[in-house]
Amino acid sequence: MSLTQQNPKTAGRFIVFEGGDGAGKSTQAALLCEALRKNGHQVLQTREPGGTEIGEKLRSLVLDHGQGTVDARTEALMYAAARAAHVEQVIRPALDGGTMVICDRFVDSSLAYQGVGRALGEDAVRSINEFATGGLRPDLTVLLDVTPIAGRSRRTVGADGASVAEDRLESEPDEFHSRIRDAFLHFAKREPARYLVLDASQSIEELARAIASALGPLLVPVTETP
Ligand SMILES: Nc1ncnc2c1ncn2[C@@H]1O[C@H](COP(=O)(O)OP(=O)(O)OP(=O)(O)O)[C@@H](O)[C@H]1O
Ligand SMILES: [Mg+2]
Repeated sequence: MSLTQQNPKTAGRFIVFEGGDGAGKSTQAALLCEALRKNGHQVLQTREPGGTEIGEKLRSLVLDHGQGTVDARTEALMYAAARAAHVEQVIRPALDGGTMVICDRFVDSSLAYQGVGRALGEDAVRSINEFATGGLRPDLTVLLDVTPIAGRSRRTVGADGASVAEDRLESEPDEFHSRIRDAFLHFAKREPARYLVLDASQSIEELARAIASALGPLLVPVTETP
């Protein structure tokens, strides 16, 4: 992974967290945002497929149980539609204004879940997403690699120890989640310069430290840079 330092006052960077359900993406995204803000950066924390009014509606249509049959192509197009709104209305304007954008899931999740998991094919899903995003790519993707069993046990036990219901994709069997995991690892292997791959079984603090050290130059306080 490599991330060269531009002028942090003006360069909006696009950092994406990817990985299986329950890997710790939201936890680490929030910690990174906090660290960046402490260092004087303007930061936007957002998530896929939400972030806009229409995106949030699409998110609940695609993830909630009880919407009738959502076939694989419909699912892929709904995610791409939500992503188009997210990029156009939220992500690009923030990057253009010099804001660091930290996003929970992006195109790789569609390539993994719909392309590989739902077997629509990576190329087909990539092409609708190229159209949706206008070709926007993350500067860095942090891949939190989690086993299906560890991911499931983390996401189904709430902070108070009570069990938490799973959404449509989460409730797929371990075999599905195992293919998703392999797909993410394959994407990272193909483009190592754009990925930081971390074993998600580490503690929250260990992972946060590894992410902070990989992003070292960006965590230098803005006021101390020329
Ligand atoms: N490194 C970790 N070790 C142990 N527990 C963790 C770790 N990271 C996160 N958790 C816990 O696991 C649960 C899932 O974490 P989190 O919501 O951050 O994962 P996620 O990848 O965003 O999940 P989802 O895909 O469902 O959105 C939370 O209860 C969180 O506190
Ligand atoms: Mg999350």
